[in-house]
Amino acid sequence: MTGSTVNSSTLKRSTKKLISPSILSADFANLQSEIQKLTLAGADWIHVDVMDGNFVPNISIGLPVVEALKRVTTLPLDVHLMIERPERYIEEFMKAGSTYLTIHVESTHQVESCLKQIRKLGGKAGLSLRPRTPIEALKPYLGFVDLILVMTVEPGFGGQSFMLDQIEKLDWLDRQRESLGLQFLIEVDGGINERTMQAVALADVLVAGSYVFKNDPKTAIQNLKTYATTSSL
Ligand code: DX5
Ligand code: ZN
Repeated sequence: MTGSTVNSSTLKRSTKKLISPSILSADFANLQSEIQKLTLAGADWIHVDVMDGNFVPNISIGLPVVEALKRVTTLPLDVHLMIERPERYIEEFMKAGSTYLTIHVESTHQVESCLKQIRKLGGKAGLSLRPRTPIEALKPYLGFVDLILVMTVEPGFGGQSFMLDQIEKLDWLDRQRESLGLQFLIEVDGGINERTMQAVALADVLVAGSYVFKNDPKTAIQNLKTYATTSSL
């Protein structure tokens, strides 16, 4: 790349990506060793999917597991709450050791106060949306977030196919971030693998569950990172 071809967009894409493997695809009987494996494999964060059987048609893990994970890792816990009325549990999830705590815009009428509460408790506030929710629904809250989590599958299950039509949301977020002078991270979640990662070059954080756990985690994480560092060449 020559100096004259460098512009803000290539610089952005050449920034190192953070990889946040989702433990939804881990062996729940051996979570401690799974976390160690991810750490040695180069994971930056640990993505923890919390589901209540109401907001999404699946029940996964809750507070005791977040507390237990906190005891066995120093990596940031990237907790994705797929639960109705998350305001009931924010304090507990922060106490349990969440670093990033992400709620869904569709899950509560108190989005702004939830985000403020997370920050007040010392957390990083995240906001997510279902694939069918227009990205403009997040606009009122962009000033209150540290992270936006774009779902590229319907929330609820790992191992689903990547929804390419969600990519324009990344563009919109990137433009808003720039024009409003904001700093939030853009994270993408669902169906990320070596075939789909090229489509998410604008994201700062990649969540991957089945891709990491169905392959050698080290190779999978390296593939995601290598792409990130070569994509602008
Ligand atoms: C889905 C979860 C995802 C899921 C991703 O509701 O939010 O984090 O674990 O799994 P993969 O990478 O297999 O699509
Ligand atoms: Zn998730």
